[in-house]
Amino acid sequence: MVALFVLAADAGTILGTKHDFTGLNRRVGVVAMSGVAFSDYGSPCVYCHIPPEKEGADTGDKGGIPGWNRYIPASTTYDLYDSRTLDNKVKTPSPISLLCLSCHDGTMAVDMTVFKPDAFNSAEDAALHLRINGADTLMNCGKCHNGQAAHSIEIKHLGTDLQNDHPISMTYAGLTHKDPDFWPPDGPYGFNNGVKLYEGKVECATCHNVHNPDINLLLRETSDRLCETCHIK
Ligand code: HEC
Ligand code: HEC
Ligand code: HEC
Ligand code: HEC
Ligand code: HEC
Repeated sequence: MVALFVLAADAGTILGTKHDFTGLNRRVGVVAMSGVAFSDYGSPCVYCHIPPEKEGADTGDKGGIPGWNRYIPASTTYDLYDSRTLDNKVKTPSPISLLCLSCHDGTMAVDMTVFKPDAFNSAEDAALHLRINGADTLMNCGKCHNGQAAHSIEIKHLGTDLQNDHPISMTYAGLTHKDPDFWPPDGPYGFNNGVKLYEGKVECATCHNVHNPDINLLLRETSDRLCETCHIK
């Protein structure tokens, strides 16, 4: 799927962001990060997307998240947000949210992809394959990212207990105009301001766009207006 890597007008905007694992090392000048902390595959896209030379491959056959170049997180049991008033209860996150959790739950290395690019020489791979986790051990980015040697990574580590986070993977309550507490979406894919629904559901990528760093924390709408896109009052 070479087109995927060429056509998208906004795809390049991932370059220079925190998800750009190829540029990261050069940008911050910490040689130990790639090469030791994680493998630099030479393409920033393959940490999430299937490499173009593997076009059409089904990562699902290999225990991967269907359509993405990452494995289903080792911990498939998440404690998702729940409350007495929550209408649509969900047990398992959808694939597009599992993509995010495969790094952000801290259970798998950030460079743990299903396919490596053909150009990558795995014989020379000496990385420790660290995880997004604040703990100061040789398995975790927290080895340096503890707030002293480098900024703490703990706040980016969501873990598998998501009960304190916004609910995900539930059908959007305003979809059929049924729920008076929610605005109906502007169309099947969500709202005109960019807040996006996936098959009618709320996912991590509903509020965040990893391809657009314009708004702080990769949000799709400024944080003061994000919530009222959906919630009435
Ligand atoms: C951190 C994970 C991540 C990385 C790294 C990443 N992407 Fe994406 N990409 C996504 C997600 C998530 C979506 C879906 C976003 C949406 O629905 O708006 C996406 C969507 C796309 C799309 C649109 C596909 C469609 O169905 O509309 C293209 C094209 C794309 N990415 C290209 C790239 C390229 C090129 C790179 C490298 C320069 C890259 N991506 C790096 C996560 C990533
Ligand atoms: C390949 C691993 C990986 C994947 C997959 C991934 N992330 Fe990240 N993400 C990171 C790392 C590493 C950071 C930076 C951590 C730090 O700065 O301490 C980060 C940072 C972030 C930030 C904070 C950005 C900032 O400017 O501070 C957000 C928001 C985020 N990710 C959301 C997402 C979402 C949403 C997805 C799924 C669409 C996703 N991530 C997928 C690795 C990943
Ligand atoms: C050998 C120590 C070390 C290790 C291990 C390490 N880092 Fe870093 N990292 C640094 C230093 C130092 C900086 C620059 C200071 C800062 O941003 O806090 C940095 C900066 C970053 C940045 C910010 C880049 C930017 O431009 O904003 C990200 C994102 C990052 N590291 C991610 C990671 C991830 C993910 C891991 C684990 C896979 C990791 N680092 C492991 C030392 C390290
Ligand atoms: C309903 C909207 C929404 C959803 C859904 C959502 N987020 Fe966020 N996220 C936010 C907002 C708003 C912030 C900034 C304020 C805060 O920290 O709560 C944020 C902050 C973050 C940060 C950065 C924390 C920091 O302060 O540096 C990361 C990483 C992140 N989200 C990842 C995710 C992942 C992964 C998912 C899915 C499991 C997700 N988000 C789902 C709205 C959302
Ligand atoms: C894309 C639409 C959307 C956005 C944006 C959004 N929410 Fe939600 N929110 C929902 C849906 C849908 C539910 C689940 C409603 C249900 O099924 O009962 C929900 C549930 C909640 C709940 C739990 C309510 C309960 O009954 O337990 C809280 C709290 C919440 N949202 C706060 C926020 C905040 C704060 C923001 C802004 C950072 C935000 N939401 C942004 C759609 C959204």
